[in-house]
Amino acid sequence: MKPYAGPAVRKLARELGVDLGPLTGSGSRGRILAADVQAYVRSAIQNTRGGTLPELPSFDYSRFGPIERQPLSRIQKIAGPRLLASWLNIPHVTQHDHADITEVEALRIRLNQSAGKRYGIKLTLLPFVMKAAIQALHDHPIVNASLDSDQNTLILKKYFHLGFAVDTPQGLVVPVLRDVDRKNIWTLAHEISELADRARQGALSASDFQGGTFTISSLGGIGGTAFTPIINAPEVAILGVSRAEMKPIWREEQFVPRLMLPVSLSYDHRVIDGAGAVRFTRALAQALENFDGLLDPPD
Ligand code: COA
Repeated sequence: MKPYAGPAVRKLARELGVDLGPLTGSGSRGRILAADVQAYVRSAIQNTRGGTLPELPSFDYSRFGPIERQPLSRIQKIAGPRLLASWLNIPHVTQHDHADITEVEALRIRLNQSAGKRYGIKLTLLPFVMKAAIQALHDHPIVNASLDSDQNTLILKKYFHLGFAVDTPQGLVVPVLRDVDRKNIWTLAHEISELADRARQGALSASDFQGGTFTISSLGGIGGTAFTPIINAPEVAILGVSRAEMKPIWREEQFVPRLMLPVSLSYDHRVIDGAGAVRFTRALAQALENFDGLLDPPD
């Protein structure tokens, strides 16, 4: 994917030796402006002044056995520096929690058997988790915020565009679903499947990746019990979803079998504190447990 920038900005980047690939444009539709290149150089100079990281030693592995060299994919080359920048710049903490999805899962199965067949759409859990995240984001607006570049101001976004991680043969990509608060679960299911298909075909455009306010990384279809996702900067939090499992839950003096969904919220501790994070995961779990508010009739 070619960075979106005009010829003058490309020339400036060439002169300054800046690779436009990892830059996020602040212009219309994500266009990279001269100011973005200048800000990038300024921050690179500041980071160098702050000292460089100790380098990991290189190693001749072939001394110990046969090896094969495999170049990183284009997506890995673009994502790698962004993941590293987020990991190094943001003090991450991960809050783990569980949501009881016994009822919402039963409803999902019922809906798939009835309306799903009629509309030709398969509902997975992800649209429900997205709608629950919207309710929690509404009540906890700092989770839908970003730190301004001065690091002293929070920018609270009044729109809800959710990124979601898609596992593709070329690597991990995070397309953005716009205005999730205004869409019902059927529309979301359709758009998730359409965006994920295009991601797997490598057919997403730059605008499909821009404007996200919060990200969900769902590994539940594959497995796992919990993980610590890396924040998709400049967002301030990301929700990891692992595989739901039937568990014995102690209720009214006895164990009852309940389907429990593990969720893991990594958050920027400069913006969100531990109490705020667990209030958010509780709000998300409660939205999934009292799922009436997540449902709208199909279009
Ligand atoms: N617990 C139990 N089952 C789950 C689940 C969960 N948390 N999440 C999904 N499933 C089930 C689905 O219901 C579906 O089951 P079914 O066929 O019996 O109905 C099956 O797993 C497959 O679901 P999936 O295809 O994964 O759909 P999805 O809507 O949940 O997810 C994507 C769509 C695009 C997010 C997903 O395919 C994907 O790419 N995930 C990987 C994300 C990733 O790599 N993250 C890592 C970032 S660090």
